[in-house]
Amino acid sequence: MSDTLAIIGGTGLTQLPGLTISKAHDVQTPFGSPSAPILEGELDGHRVLFLARHGHPHRIPPHQVNYRANLWALQNLYATDVIAVTAVGGITHNMAARKLVVPIQIIDYTYGRDNTIFEGELSQVTHVDFSYPYTESLRQLLLKAAKQVDEPVINGGVYGATQGPRLETAAEIFRMEQDGCDVVGMTGMPETVLARELKLRYAALSVIVNPAAGKGEGVITIKEIEENLDDGMERVKRILHTAVDQ
Ligand code: HPA
Repeated sequence: MSDTLAIIGGTGLTQLPGLTISKAHDVQTPFGSPSAPILEGELDGHRVLFLARHGHPHRIPPHQVNYRANLWALQNLYATDVIAVTAVGGITHNMAARKLVVPIQIIDYTYGRDNTIFEGELSQVTHVDFSYPYTESLRQLLLKAAKQVDEPVINGGVYGATQGPRLETAAEIFRMEQDGCDVVGMTGMPETVLARELKLRYAALSVIVNPAAGKGEGVITIKEIEENLDDGMERVKRILHTAVDQ
């Protein structure tokens, strides 16, 4: 079977315009139900799977997403590659609102999430390598697609994954910056490591929707997030259309 790309849409991307849907799969997994039916269809002539991470309509908060079911279901439908779209806050200097980022590293600050498929009755203990959490070839594919449509994208940056659903305090962001984080979001983990455990290629395309806590003027408002999100997702969609053609 040839490679199949799956797109996990985040906040602001619960549907994928241009996707001609041929089937909506209600997959049941050993870990329960995914966030939504997995849509199978064609995007610009290529077989693509699409999953709305927070459900459709958007209703599942980051700490309650069944990441294990989501990734398992995609693999069960023969996905080989996963592009994850995420909204993030910008921490370091260059990470201004509305910019797009293809992160290269992760620091995990989440807790209490089901973060492995390797539990229960196991025949052996498995420790996956996670030195380089994103698949470089898929990162490069995203960067190339962005270049083709003339969308500037920041290549690299460390994604700090927080528990949410609340946003961070300014002190927490200060600490994360000292740790080396460039952007902050709530869904990067355990999604990324589960893809690794399931041997799926995985990369993320993140839209910066606000300056992280303490990095902008005043407090973070939902209005600014939504405005930046709408703008960013339009550009994300253009990149995704090109990415499937690679
Ligand atoms: N923090 C955490 N997650 C986020 C943010 C943020 O500032 N913006 C969008 N997702």
